Amino acid sequence: MTALGFQPFAVEQYLSETEHGVRFNFSESGVHPMSYAELFTLCDIDKEELFATLVDYPQVNGREILRGHIAALYPNATPENVLVTVGATEANTLVAATLLEPGDNVIRFRPTYEQLAGNAHNLGFEVRSVDLVEDQGWAVDQSALNDAVDDRTRVIHTVNPNNPTGTILSFADRQTIVQAAERVGAWIVADEVYAGTERDTDEATASFWGSCERVIAINSMSKAYGLPGLRLGWLVAPEAMVQAFWRRHEYASIAATMMSMHLAEHALEPAHRNKLTERARRLIRRGFRTLEEALARHEGVFSVVPPQASAMSFVKFALPVDSDTFAKRLLMEEDVLVIPGSRFGVEDHFRFSSALPEDHLREGLERLNRLVDRILG
Ligand SMILES: Cc1ncc(COP(=O)(O)O)c(C=O)c1O
Repeated sequence: MTALGFQPFAVEQYLSETEHGVRFNFSESGVHPMSYAELFTLCDIDKEELFATLVDYPQVNGREILRGHIAALYPNATPENVLVTVGATEANTLVAATLLEPGDNVIRFRPTYEQLAGNAHNLGFEVRSVDLVEDQGWAVDQSALNDAVDDRTRVIHTVNPNNPTGTILSFADRQTIVQAAERVGAWIVADEVYAGTERDTDEATASFWGSCERVIAINSMSKAYGLPGLRLGWLVAPEAMVQAFWRRHEYASIAATMMSMHLAEHALEPAHRNKLTERARRLIRRGFRTLEEALARHEGVFSVVPPQASAMSFVKFALPVDSDTFAKRLLMEEDVLVIPGSRFGVEDHFRFSSALPEDHLREGLERLNRLVDRILG
């Protein structure tokens, strides 16, 4: 906390202060981004047609065709249930600004990506943390969740699959969340940006949409599709709520860009969409195998709950340094960037992203092991 009570976004601050200019960047959470050339080829996009697009404001809530493609991804959703936003980031921000009323509290899981919780805190709301338990495969501490929820709980925020652990909620954990929310009339706000990045199956993680009445599902083009630079995301919510979010969206950004909406429309056509998620899964699966091999070089130093999805692994280490020192030395001495666990409130861990070109990944991991050799002396 700063003197004014403003809580910076610890993970994003670390990234924006360190990631530019670093040679081996393993700090990102998505797969290696696609080039425009690759996107145009994979999605058969006609350049001339796209270049004729006016550099204009698009439909503020999202072009009809785009909202149609998005709605088709959710059971019984219609385009009226969809608001297109500037990334999942804007969706999380709008949700915090719209749903919460004086006296409300928000439940978030730890460790997690704190976009919604941080916004809620900065708006003056109480945020309650419920731990995910590492030696149970990062399962939800169900009794802690039931104890934390009360009549003033307005939002249970879940990131599924999770950032930074890559874990997918078990059926039992999902049920506990749904039951806890229903018991007190809270909204489940499900940030599902890593759905579609599964490692062991080609079946995408099911959305919370449809699990109960009060659900807001958030997603974007950034992770499963490898297109973070489009800055295009969305939320899916009951129609009346979409209207309320839309009113804030007019203040926050007016709209995502015309070009991003057009490109997302091409990318979300079913045949193209499959190609993009296949690309992401290929990078994720190969990258994790390479990471596991490299971590095994130092017996007893590293352990990791294998991520079920996402490009990320939340690696535990047994070394005589804390996570900030480890990450700082890696950056200074080896030009390698990872995120220290301290940024997620968990010591002795770092977040590592491995869905990258193989040679680059291997060379960076060599450097990481070199630092470990030096630390162990
Ligand atoms: C869980 C989660 N939600 C949202 C975001 C931001 O996504 P976007 O690029 O769509 O704004 C991230 C980025 O790392 C994330 O990990």
